[in-house]
Amino acid sequence: MATHSTAEATSKHLETLKKRKAWRALQAHYKGVRSVHLRTLFAGDPKRGERMTAEAAGIFLDYSKNRVTDETIKLLVQLAEESGLRPRMEAMFGGEKINVTENRAVLHVALRAPKGASILVDGENVVPQVHAVLDRMEDFSKRIRTGEWKGHTGKRIRNVINIGIGGSDLGPVMAYEALKHYSDRGLNLRFVSNVDGTDFAEAVEGLDPSETLFIVSSKTFTTLETMTNAHAARAWLLAGLGGDEKSIARHFVAVSTNAAEVAKFGIDTANMFGFWDWVGGRYSMDSAIGLSTMAAVGAENFRAMLDGFHQMDEHFRATPFERNLPVLMGLLGVWYSDFFGAETVAVLPYEQYLKRFPAYLQQLTMESNGKHVTLEGAEVSYATGPIYWGEPGTNGQHSFYQLIHQGTRLIPCDFIAFAKPLKPLGRHHDMLMANVFAQTEALAFGKTSEQVKAEGTPEWLAPHRVFEGNRPSNTILADRLTPEVLGKLVALYEHSVFTQGVIWQINSFDQWGVELGKVLAQRIVPELESAAEPALSHDSSTNSLIRRYRNLKE
Ligand code: F6P
Repeated sequence: MATHSTAEATSKHLETLKKRKAWRALQAHYKGVRSVHLRTLFAGDPKRGERMTAEAAGIFLDYSKNRVTDETIKLLVQLAEESGLRPRMEAMFGGEKINVTENRAVLHVALRAPKGASILVDGENVVPQVHAVLDRMEDFSKRIRTGEWKGHTGKRIRNVINIGIGGSDLGPVMAYEALKHYSDRGLNLRFVSNVDGTDFAEAVEGLDPSETLFIVSSKTFTTLETMTNAHAARAWLLAGLGGDEKSIARHFVAVSTNAAEVAKFGIDTANMFGFWDWVGGRYSMDSAIGLSTMAAVGAENFRAMLDGFHQMDEHFRATPFERNLPVLMGLLGVWYSDFFGAETVAVLPYEQYLKRFPAYLQQLTMESNGKHVTLEGAEVSYATGPIYWGEPGTNGQHSFYQLIHQGTRLIPCDFIAFAKPLKPLGRHHDMLMANVFAQTEALAFGKTSEQVKAEGTPEWLAPHRVFEGNRPSNTILADRLTPEVLGKLVALYEHSVFTQGVIWQINSFDQWGVELGKVLAQRIVPELESAAEPALSHDSSTNSLIRRYRNLKE
């Protein structure tokens, strides 16, 4: 149940989205804007590309290549206001239990609050607890990085393997890849998530158990995949170290909110790093779930990342909506999803180190906003969270960009790029950046039939070579991919997701949609494993697939 004040903050805004004045005005406005070409918008306003930009904490957003006018932005901002974005923001930052279906506060912003800040949950300031865990993480990572922490046989730890899934994996993997430039290359970081045994087998391939430390990361410490892999790791370690149970303490640490389950597994709770129920899995990379990140890049870099998150939090909380980066990006997403009917968003980082950023964003955006009922449990009558996908540039250009340029679907794109490369190499970076600018230009302005024909293209070939353009994109530009900038980027998307969730009146912080499959799988496991032919009572397709599998498996 919602707390009294949350209910008050929201109830006023829970009339149907489609009845809002701004929504209705946007519907009318859309009719006038939908066929206006970006060529026309730019031709009519020579300063558009300078004007339709916003900057905060060193992140520059050019949103001029979107199919919007000043009026669109005005109405979208009005929609955010009518939807109660401001009070909802304050409810989140104030520790109210806005995750009503789980009766939890949503306080990832507390994970990066500076020492001395005060954020109350049930009357208790949680910031000192956050910093106490950070200090313990720092102490632990230092011991790993300096070699002071020894394995059971006295050898230095050379390999750190994070076992986790979803938010307990995607954030750590993404951050490790993103910050590899800053990492200690003497430490070999690997990640295991999938219950497919191949994932574990490949992660430990070639490793010496006496030099390997496992971080079992699981908020609940009950997740099937993670616990299965953690038990495999335990067996692998014991087999390699002569079966001595005492070795577990030197080779396993846990990150969890569930001390009882951690102890049951056999990990000393002195080697457990905690977090809290008010940290959602997909919002947890800056909690102790980031232990592997800290081990890889060191505490100073990790804290710089937290500072970046915090700077974006402050910007989100304090800046008027029309200049607020997460709000603008969130609103543009609503504009394309609900008015243009766009079904997906492509995220295209032109930075190889961000190669796992789209995968990370998939959980953040889709587990958050893939909902079909409102906070009050009513069926929505509009589209909610779009599908997020992407690959780093320029690889995507030689693969799926064809469809973005000339296909029949509208795919808004986020281009992410940096002025300075981390690995300067000849002319590479100018070439990379030329491609960013070229792609957004080509998408927006295309190439007309007249232009194509003027190049001497035969009449019959011309239609194939025409680019209709008018394909929208954001360009996000920052100086260089530092830990601080990574924090800002992630927070930018977190708050953009929040903005959209508020407009759509959904709970962006639960994930009931993952439950059914989990429960059914638990029921099916014994049916696959039983020696005797099980009596199956599924539908005919599931029954026969199970029978076929049983016949085929060894
Ligand atoms: O996929 C569902 C989910 O609950 C995610 O939200 C979460 O990140 C993941 O499983 C892992 O959960 P845990 O950290 O509890 O193992």
